[in-house]
Formats: sequence, C-alpha cells, structure tokens
Amino acid sequence: MAGNTIVVLTGAGISKESGLSTFRDADGIWAKVRIEDVATPEGYRRNPAMVQAFYNSRRSHLLSGDAHPNPAHLALARLEREWPGEVLVVTQNIDDLHERAGSSNLIHMHGELLKARCDLCGTVSSWAEDLSADSLCPDCRHKGRLRPHVVWFGETPLAMDRIFEALGRCVTFLSIGTSGNVYPAAGFVTHVRSRLNTRTVELNLEPSLGATLFHEAIYGPASEVVPAFVEALLGG
Ligand code: APR
Repeated sequence: MAGNTIVVLTGAGISKESGLSTFRDADGIWAKVRIEDVATPEGYRRNPAMVQAFYNSRRSHLLSGDAHPNPAHLALARLEREWPGEVLVVTQNIDDLHERAGSSNLIHMHGELLKARCDLCGTVSSWAEDLSADSLCPDCRHKGRLRPHVVWFGETPLAMDRIFEALGRCVTFLSIGTSGNVYPAAGFVTHVRSRLNTRTVELNLEPSLGATLFHEAIYGPASEVVPAFVEALLGG
C-alpha cells in the first residue's frame, strides 16, 4: 500500500536483553575500550591486531549460542509480516538478531559483524571465523587485507540513499534502543518531523538525547514495550 510505510531505527538497546552489550551504558563497551583504538581507521592502521581481536571476541560471542533474538526483535519481524504496508528496519547494530528473528526488509547502516571486507578488491564476504593477518580474501586471494565490514567513526554509513528515500515517505518513524548520540541516525527523527502528518515515537529504557524531538515516547525494556506497541499498531 502506498503511503503506509513504517521506518524503524534500532540501536544497541534492542539487543541488550539478548545479552549483547550497549556502548554508552555504565557497563557499556566504551567504558572498557577507547573508540579511537578500536572503532576508527586510524586505530586500525595503528594496531590492526588489537582491532581484529576486539571484533573477533564480539563475533564469537554472537555465534556462541548464548545470544538469541528477544521479543522486541520478534515483534518487529511480526510487524513486517502483518503490517498493510512496508516496514523497513534500519539498524545501527552489527549483530544478526533482526535476521534471526525473521526481519528481511533490513538495512545495517553501520555494517555487519558476520561479514568481512577486502581492503584490496572491496569484496564483502560472509565471515564467521576470527579475522587475522593470515586471513585470505575469498575473491582476490590476497592475504592480510580483510577487515570487519563495520563502519568506523569518520567513515560513511551504508545505504544512506535508500534510508533517506524511505524516511521521505514514511508515515510512522520508530526509534528503539538508541541513545541519540551518533549521527546521521540521531537526525532521522528531525527529517521525518519536517513533514506533516507523520508520527514519531521513541521506545527506549530512558529518554535519549533526542527525546524531545519525538511526538511520543514509551520507556521501558524493549522486550516489553516493543511487543506491546506492535500489538497496538496491528489493532490487536
Ligand atoms: N531496552 C531498551 N533500551 C535499552 C535497554 C533495554 N533493555 N538497555 C539499554 N537501552 C538503551 C539505553 O538507555 C541507551 O539509550 O539503549 C541505548 C543504547 O545507547 P548506546 O549504547 O549509545 O548505543 P547506540 O545508540 O546503538 O549507539 C549508536 O554508536 O558506538 C557507536 O556504532 C556504534 O551503532 C553504535 C552507535
């Protein structure tokens, strides 16, 4: 149905109850390692082994069998199935919990932990093992040029044209589990609100930096507030 699009932005908070760390909570990732060391091109040039080890440990945890989609991920997959229009999930997360929950209309704007990119030929491949200086690109076969297919600070997020095209026509914009610290994602709500007759809702554990930019806000753990909100949206 035209004119019935929902865009959902998600952040690390939606995966917290699946056992994956957020970034800026007191126990978050940036309380343990420095962004400059593990999430910038300069950090990677300075010490590639440290950066590979940082993502290798997160990748193996994600694949360990301890991390599973939670009811919030499952509710968004239900919304995609049952909503009489397009539902696009734009996630800042690099985990695959949305996919495993059943979401298929999905954009990973900050890349994916289970993919590697070759610095030489640019090929992006699925990757479930540790990455190291000995890793071979499956395409050009060169060694030691594979990096995590993850967008670092100072790099350009992925699929921005597709994201802004959807933001330009959505009737409802949901922001779930994100602190509103990082742009361009933190600016999406303002882009949607610039149009009349749109509905913007923040669903988060606590008010984000952009809380006042939303028409509505619902606070609580994602695994509780998201299924309830989807149920109400679907007229359940
Ligand atoms: N349910 C809902 N929200 C939660 C929960 C929960 N159980 N637990 C935490 N949150 C909220 C926090 O209150 C916080 O507002 O999730 C948000 C997580 O914020 P961040 O840790 O900043 O993560 P995120 O917003 O996704 O970070 C954006 O920053 O470091 C970069 O690339 C990284 O994609 C990441 C980006």
